[in-house]
Amino acid sequence: MKTLIEFINEEQSHIPNASGDFSRLMNDIGIAAKIVNREINKAGLGDIMGYEGTANVQGEDQKKLDVYANNEFIKALKNGGQCCAIASEENEGLVTFENKLSNDGQYVVAMDPLDGSSNIEVNVSIGTIFSIFKRKTKPGSPGTVEDLLQPGNQLIAAGYVIYGSSTMLVYSTGNGVNGFTLDPSVGLFLMSHPNMKIPGGGKIYSVNEANYIYFPDGVKEYLRYCQEDDAKTNRPYTTRYIGSLVADFHRNLIRGGIYLYPGTRKNPNGKLRLLYENVPVAFLAEQAGGKATDGFRRILDIRPKALHDRTPLFIGSKHMVEKAEYFMDYFSKEFKPEDTE
Ligand code: AHG
Ligand code: MN
Ligand code: MN
Repeated sequence: MKTLIEFINEEQSHIPNASGDFSRLMNDIGIAAKIVNREINKAGLGDIMGYEGTANVQGEDQKKLDVYANNEFIKALKNGGQCCAIASEENEGLVTFENKLSNDGQYVVAMDPLDGSSNIEVNVSIGTIFSIFKRKTKPGSPGTVEDLLQPGNQLIAAGYVIYGSSTMLVYSTGNGVNGFTLDPSVGLFLMSHPNMKIPGGGKIYSVNEANYIYFPDGVKEYLRYCQEDDAKTNRPYTTRYIGSLVADFHRNLIRGGIYLYPGTRKNPNGKLRLLYENVPVAFLAEQAGGKATDGFRRILDIRPKALHDRTPLFIGSKHMVEKAEYFMDYFSKEFKPEDTE
């Protein structure tokens, strides 16, 4: 079986004059994923579960593993030297480095080091999500916020690690989506899911239905549609909701389905963060033949105004997302952002 490193090198060989910097960066992400995986596997045995006693910029209490994963990914990217700045869910400002190697780095990374951290204590899948862009500013000095505030259509690569019943790294550089499963006995990611494609339709819808009363009418009507009895179109569908975006997205990517985190009147932008949650999974969805929008606009065309911007997310099988968009357009025009064509 092909290893992750072999695959990265093979992809590099197709790019004339590639410096190898991107390959090294991807390799570093793979190494950090293995270190974080090792610690997650031990959660429950040592003193790694529970709260750190601090809050992040979004006011969310940080778990010890949130902080641990954040530190490990930052360390790996710093030591590698290809990355000149990092935006992380766990850091209010940009993370930059005081060394020449990193300041010469061509790339910037946005990441959610541990996604679904509320699931740690109950042994349910969690993940890491990342976006990689080329810097806009000249190498030679630390990266800037401007380097990160790029729309997803400028991505060089994006992916996630899912720490589940097995640990997988799924990523894309814009040539389809490939999945690698960690073989813990040899400590290598091996290609297990080449050229992943999301089914055009599906039966699964994933949403935190407890928020129903706050949802826009378009989402309420779409959920009613999902629950209607119609044998011809396989309805009623079925609900699956884990509460880890990575795990919910991964399941729907393989099985077909839609994941929704809508905006509400109180929180018109929803909960999920654009740069390091929505953009990377949107890139993977599209690369796998699926679709990702905020109900009206393609996620990858939205330019972030700040590092921790949020947007609603409707993502998954193309036909299912289009159906939800139809309901949003018909019943919830007032949620349409002003800059939508
Ligand atoms: P994080 O653990 O990185 O803060 O992300 C949690 C996110 C996402 O993974 C998940 O889909 C969503 O929050 C769940 O939110 P609700 O509990 O509101 O459903
Ligand atoms: Mn998250
Ligand atoms: Mn997180």
